[in-house]
Amino acid sequence: MRIATLKERAAGETRVSVTPETVKKFIALGAEMAVEEGAGEGASISDEAYREAGAEVTTGPKAVAGADIVLGVQAPDVMTLAGAKDGAWVAATFDPFRDKARVEAYAKAGFEALSMEFMPRITRAQSMDVLSSQSNLAGYKAVLAAADEFGRAFPMMMTAAGTIHAAKAFIMGVGVAGLQAIATARRLGAQVSATDVRSATKEQIQSLGAKPIFVESVEGIEGEGSGGYATEMSEEYQKAQAELVSGHIAKQDIVITTALIPGRDAPRLISDAQIATMKPGSVIFDLAVAQGGNVEGSEADKVVVKHGVKIMGFSNTPAHLAADASALFARNLYNFLSAFWDKDAGKPVLDEEIGDAIRLTQGGKVVNERLQG
Ligand code: NAI
Repeated sequence: MRIATLKERAAGETRVSVTPETVKKFIALGAEMAVEEGAGEGASISDEAYREAGAEVTTGPKAVAGADIVLGVQAPDVMTLAGAKDGAWVAATFDPFRDKARVEAYAKAGFEALSMEFMPRITRAQSMDVLSSQSNLAGYKAVLAAADEFGRAFPMMMTAAGTIHAAKAFIMGVGVAGLQAIATARRLGAQVSATDVRSATKEQIQSLGAKPIFVESVEGIEGEGSGGYATEMSEEYQKAQAELVSGHIAKQDIVITTALIPGRDAPRLISDAQIATMKPGSVIFDLAVAQGGNVEGSEADKVVVKHGVKIMGFSNTPAHLAADASALFARNLYNFLSAFWDKDAGKPVLDEEIGDAIRLTQGGKVVNERLQG
């Protein structure tokens, strides 16, 4: 069983899908590990560290030669997989709803694409969930990046020269990233409020010491679809939400938006007219900028100034914390494969619940239910 990892080739991707820690653990399971030279560079992991852990470090994509399984953060181009075994598994993120061409190419090449984003949100799969591990870090980093752009301090400070007031931070979308954003902004000393379409988040917001801001009287407040994800809201709800947010946002210094709906463009939460009501010097961090953006006018990897308000967002936020993001991503992959490791077969054997959920391609075809029609 040969497991290979390539250097990530996507622009701006600094993460890596195996670490010396997981190399050792896979070897302990009986696997042979191969890592492309320089794969860990962006995450401050040297080739030497991989060698010491027991991996073969290869020049160029040769690592995949004879591989049964290829691991990635972002799925590699099929071109770089030449030499991997027929029907080899590739476990990585595929962005399957947007990058249909890649999924088709994997089917055509006969590989089994395992999409880590499609990991079911069930208790036993929590330790395998890359969306959670990466969103958590992204929520943290978004607050730090916004704080860095903000020309004022977060905490209240009483100094000999006078008092500085605490910053007001508003978190929109309270999933994994939003919860961490609330906690981080609180730790920095801001006064925090938060909103979501899922009413279940109200208690979570309160338990973190922040103030919930919710639309109360419109049908559709549940907002929760399958797997705990948000659904698209009615027009009536969206109107009520816009009014509520307009009143609140004008008083905020920092706004972090994190709202996503699986398989669709991110919902628009803040319009240019609303930005115009904010105080100059306020900062909005749009964590959904790469999925279409929650904020009108946000551009990936730029600080756009509109009406004196700074609007920002990274195309790949976890890549800004490459070492920790890689460590967690690599553990997610290890937790996934080791949970299914069949000692007699000397390889992982997936069960139906998780296998069918994450498998995109098999036997030359796109087989995932969520991608049909
Ligand atoms: P996400 O990244 O898909 O979306 C972020 C947040 O934006 C969500 O809370 C969503 O409700 C909210 N949102 C969507 N549209 C909105 C709008 N128009 N206005 C305001 N907010 C809006 O969410 P994430 O972080 O992936 O979490 C989704 C769910 O999965 C949560 O219920 C979470 O607790 C659950 N979960 C379960 C896990 C498990 O059991 N293995 C692991 C991780 C998350």
